[in-house]
Amino acid sequence: MPPWSAKPKRRSRTRPDARARPTQRSGIRALTAYRQVKMRGPPAGRDPAFFLFSSSRDHSGTRHMDTPDTDLRASLLAAIAAADSLEALEALRVSALGKKGQVTSLMKTLGGMDPETRKTAGQALNALKDEIAAALDARKATLADAALSERLARERVDVTLAPRDEPDGALHPISQTWEEVVAIFAQMGFAVAEGPEIEDDFHNFTALNFPPGHPARDMHDTFFLPRRADGTRHLLRTHTSPVQIRTMLGQKPPIRILAPGRTYRCDSDMTHTPMFHQFEGLVIDKATHFGHLKGCLSEFVEAYFEVEAVPMRFRPSFFPFTEPSAEVDIGCSRKGGELRIGAGDDWLEILGCGMVHPNVLRACGLDPEEYQGFAFGMGLERIAMLKYGIPDLRTFFESDLRWLRHYGFASLDVPTVQGGLSR
Ligand code: PHE
Repeated sequence: MPPWSAKPKRRSRTRPDARARPTQRSGIRALTAYRQVKMRGPPAGRDPAFFLFSSSRDHSGTRHMDTPDTDLRASLLAAIAAADSLEALEALRVSALGKKGQVTSLMKTLGGMDPETRKTAGQALNALKDEIAAALDARKATLADAALSERLARERVDVTLAPRDEPDGALHPISQTWEEVVAIFAQMGFAVAEGPEIEDDFHNFTALNFPPGHPARDMHDTFFLPRRADGTRHLLRTHTSPVQIRTMLGQKPPIRILAPGRTYRCDSDMTHTPMFHQFEGLVIDKATHFGHLKGCLSEFVEAYFEVEAVPMRFRPSFFPFTEPSAEVDIGCSRKGGELRIGAGDDWLEILGCGMVHPNVLRACGLDPEEYQGFAFGMGLERIAMLKYGIPDLRTFFESDLRWLRHYGFASLDVPTVQGGLSR
């Protein structure tokens, strides 16, 4: 509670400090003194501003009529010095200098004075007002300073504390494997090529030498879009091989591209998901032969699995768009339920490949007598599962954060052949 609003105590004449106590009376006293002056005029020989001064006694009981009445001044200054918050200080300002404040009220009485008295009284009141205002400002600055220091102390940041763990996020194994494969083939001079996921029959089948009744053209294997007005049906590409066609139609050999991307098949079980990823490789030039294909793939397998001299086996196979065609197996061991690449006497199929069929070259306007080359295609999930020991294909697409945290990769480690592929 502000000191001036306390019920004024009776002043003790014997206590010299009693005058310094805050009291509501000082203003009234000054007014009373003024009225007397107005009625009777200043006492002879007294300062005309004496109404601002009142008689007081010192502790010896001597009256001092000519010393300023320090009651109002002293009580305000004391209250200001004692104010312990900005709110208390503001209340003090209002009670002293506000519209109905003690000092303001005194100022209002100046108008009724004779000019001589007004001059002296006005000066004294203005000085008082300035002094109180200055004291308020100073106290305000002190309180604000203290408040700031207190806040700074309270909100101090301990820079020596260990940083909080920020979740970094992780790269999905698909993204990681994608980048690894691109890095390896980029090193061998392959450019990345892309094609649409919604394809037409020509690029996905016909140009790739699929005969009209081929089972892949069946609804059971392929997602078809609704038939259009001209009778054709678009489809979700069933492999990345249509990018071969788009590339050969779009650029002249020599061609050396790697086409990563999403592919779709009407298939869903332990080892098949309706959407998956493939990598397509295509090399076309005048003298490209099967030996180049083998060299290229063995280079890839060793770089990707980070194992030297991985045994490889090319098994005769069939694809409409390659002739001869092969499936590639790599040597592995499955002892003790653990799969190890590059050791043991077991085989693991990892991709399909072959020499580009002359019909495919012709469909793309290339002369098979002048140009030849090879192509390969592999499933991204499959090689990711093999390298990182991920047992179930379906978990790739379940978006389970626990799975991702376990199998994910540091997001800023870009795989490079020189710097490391799989940190
Ligand atoms: N497109 C084939 C598939 O999806 C893979 C492949 C690509 C085979 C290129 C040979 C050459 O199974």
